[in-house]
Amino acid sequence: MVNSVQLPNRRARVACARTFRRGSGGIVIHGFDPFRSFGDDVAATYDDSPRGDEAESVAFLRQLAGDGPALELAIGTGRIGLPLANSGVRVDGVEQSAAMIDQLKAKPGGAELSVVQGDMADVPVTGDYPLVFVVFNSIYNLLTQEAQIRCFANVASHLTPGGAFVLEAALPGTDETEPGPSYRLDQQYVAAEEVEADRVVLDVGRYDQSTQLLNKCRVIIESGQMRLSPIALRFAAPAELDLMARLAGLHLDARWGGWRGEAFTSTSRRHVSVYRR
Ligand SMILES: C[S@@+](CC[C@H](N)C(=O)[O-])C[C@H]1O[C@@H](n2cnc3c(N)ncnc32)[C@H](O)[C@@H]1O
Repeated sequence: MVNSVQLPNRRARVACARTFRRGSGGIVIHGFDPFRSFGDDVAATYDDSPRGDEAESVAFLRQLAGDGPALELAIGTGRIGLPLANSGVRVDGVEQSAAMIDQLKAKPGGAELSVVQGDMADVPVTGDYPLVFVVFNSIYNLLTQEAQIRCFANVASHLTPGGAFVLEAALPGTDETEPGPSYRLDQQYVAAEEVEADRVVLDVGRYDQSTQLLNKCRVIIESGQMRLSPIALRFAAPAELDLMARLAGLHLDARWGGWRGEAFTSTSRRHVSVYRR
């Protein structure tokens, strides 16, 4: 039996093509530049409100690092990389934002870390590592599936045999990581983050399920002024990340619901995944 297929009319086809073009370009926020989303403003205040999971992240990574060295992708201001280095293992980093690197270098011990300014999809370093890691959802800063796949492949080529690639990320659709920002995947939403007499912070988001891109903007209104802090993220479910790992010749060795080895369950809000060569 031949199934009959209803072809969409012209107007529907044009609308669909327009939507697809907007989505398939990878970045939907008009004028958004991912290389600026962690610029001077964000870098200057990034460490003002630590996430609170630093000690347990470092303890987890320290065990896997052995004698090192370790490589952190999207090292930022060194929130994790720096205390890991202080625990006695050499830590190198890759980071796109000069402003974030400057913050890192200004911290005690920061200048001793070797940080390459570049795209973590390329892993632009020489040498092999028993531990490569990317934390705090930073894998989602790569805005296409292609870039995320490339990142896995390049990580694999820098792992020593048996080496570990650790990835920590919020599960797509979690209302908020604990503690941390919210990653709602509603088609669109506005949430009141702070409401004070002289200061209001709104979290405005739009999710495109065809590209898995969440476009978010924090709108900070205070003293009669308004600031916008946009970011785009491409979410990938753990199963999609596992397939990327397999394409890169890695396999999933362990998956936890947090840095303390919490079980990964249907109620987990994030995952800490260990891939190995
Ligand atoms: C949420 S912060 C995490 C920083 C740090 N790992 C931490 O845990 O605090 C994300 C970082 O990813 C960096 N980043 C975003 N896209 C990147 C890319 N394609 N290559 C390298 N770094 C990138 C940003 O500049 C920012 O420093």
